[in-house]
Amino acid sequence: HPVPVITIDGPTASGKGTVAHRVAQALGWHVLDSGALYRLTALAVIQKDIDPDDAEAVAHVAQNLQVEFHPEGVRLDKLEASELIRQEQVGNLASRLAPNPLLRAALLGRQRAFRQAPGLVADGRDMGTIVFQDAQLKIFLVADVQARAQRRCKQLIEKGISANLKDLLADMRERDARDIERAVAPLLPAQDAHVVDSSNLTIDQTVQSILDLWSRV
Ligand code: C5P
Repeated sequence: HPVPVITIDGPTASGKGTVAHRVAQALGWHVLDSGALYRLTALAVIQKDIDPDDAEAVAHVAQNLQVEFHPEGVRLDKLEASELIRQEQVGNLASRLAPNPLLRAALLGRQRAFRQAPGLVADGRDMGTIVFQDAQLKIFLVADVQARAQRRCKQLIEKGISANLKDLLADMRERDARDIERAVAPLLPAQDAHVVDSSNLTIDQTVQSILDLWSRV
């Protein structure tokens, strides 16, 4: 039997990251935040002053990323990068780089290497459709854009970063559109995915609904 995987895909700020961590914790499994790999690539592209439109150069950066995930975050080239990759500027560049098929191919093996016993919870945009097509349980986590923008706004303010709901909404719509409309690995539910709408659910309720689905697999 292959190592079990639960994939959690969905639009930006749908709560995937938090939910994935909590589900992984409950099951004692590993977790993959695939968006972090796109964000780390974006950070390296900025640091190395690479042209974001140079598809091959960007893929080369991704191929050679020196990444180390640890329980509190992630290091890039031995330096703590957890906070840096959360910046909106880095997220935006990650979203602009993401349509590049060479970049996506370069990150494929790295993502699949996270599939280790006793199991993996992987969150992103194409975990169920491309990276882990044979996942035993696929979740597509959605929430309406207002709910997502409010959550993101609250998170940023809690971190002491200034945020404006109107700008966040516009930004989020733009990012969703880019993820949905791109030709390669667009954001869409896998045919066999369960759609979970968290607009009116707490994190606990969302986690529980996924654990319930898993117990029935
Ligand atoms: O999920 P997160 O916001 O951290 O991801 C940053 C960007 O990376 C997203 O806007 C998306 O364009 C891209 N991404 C992707 N495929 C994934 C994960 C993230 O294209 N599996």
